Amino acid sequence: MEDHYYKIVNECFNFLKDKVPFSPEIIITLGTGLSGLAEEVEIHFKIPYQEIPHFPVSSVETHIGELILGYLSGKRVALLRGRFHYYEGYSAKELTLPLRVLTLFKPKIYLVSNAAGGLNLAFKPGSLMLIKDHINLIPDNPLRGPNIEEWGERFPDLSQAYDKELRDKFKKTAQELGEELFEGVYVAVPGPSLETPAETRFLRMIGADAVGMSTVPEVIVAVHSGLKVLGISVIANVNDPDNFQPILFEEVVKSAQATENRLGKLIKEFLKRL
Ligand code: HPA
Repeated sequence: MEDHYYKIVNECFNFLKDKVPFSPEIIITLGTGLSGLAEEVEIHFKIPYQEIPHFPVSSVETHIGELILGYLSGKRVALLRGRFHYYEGYSAKELTLPLRVLTLFKPKIYLVSNAAGGLNLAFKPGSLMLIKDHINLIPDNPLRGPNIEEWGERFPDLSQAYDKELRDKFKKTAQELGEELFEGVYVAVPGPSLETPAETRFLRMIGADAVGMSTVPEVIVAVHSGLKVLGISVIANVNDPDNFQPILFEEVVKSAQATENRLGKLIKEFLKRL
């Protein structure tokens, strides 16, 4: 039986293969308020998502949808500028389609960033958290359904989803740049409504340090296809269940944007050292 998803992923890949100037080594997804790094890329190829067959088109205004290929710190990167979320109505499989297509170029590394709510009270708005592990509370998995053996195994191991060596390298880079970097567990929730104080208490109890509505589906696809993953959360707001403040999405975006330059510098220096 020909799998429909397999067919559309390959159609996208074949469409792009003839257009891109090179195969990327590193795939980068930039989160809410963090798309400015795209300005730093020496761009060799750029295409809006609307022009790629089958690509979803983002409904979140803060996410510009385009695929960029170019050089960043001397590395061949593909930048997914703008991402898709479960809360927009996409399934985990649909929202990871752009990444799945890019994995067919056989890149080595997936670098993903997001804006997240801090659950760990050591965090402040603007803190950076390296993701060391995740909890998936999105009631979907991008690998649900027939497994495509060519892409990866049926039951991928997630014991080391966030590569230790890459994390150590990133921590060292942060230290040398004098940038404070936390490390913690990211929990993905379906959204779009934000957490109640009681849910926030629950998420802390189950061991999460930061909460967001993205990243986990992509990381599952990346690990499934054999990529090494580095994930960073920008803590946009901190949610204290005992002193709960309203979470305003505009504030989240603003806070992430204020951190963008610091994260951009770190990423550029990190890539140089790879
Ligand atoms: N909760 C969920 N997602 C988020 C938050 C939050 O507090 N902040 C940014 N993304």
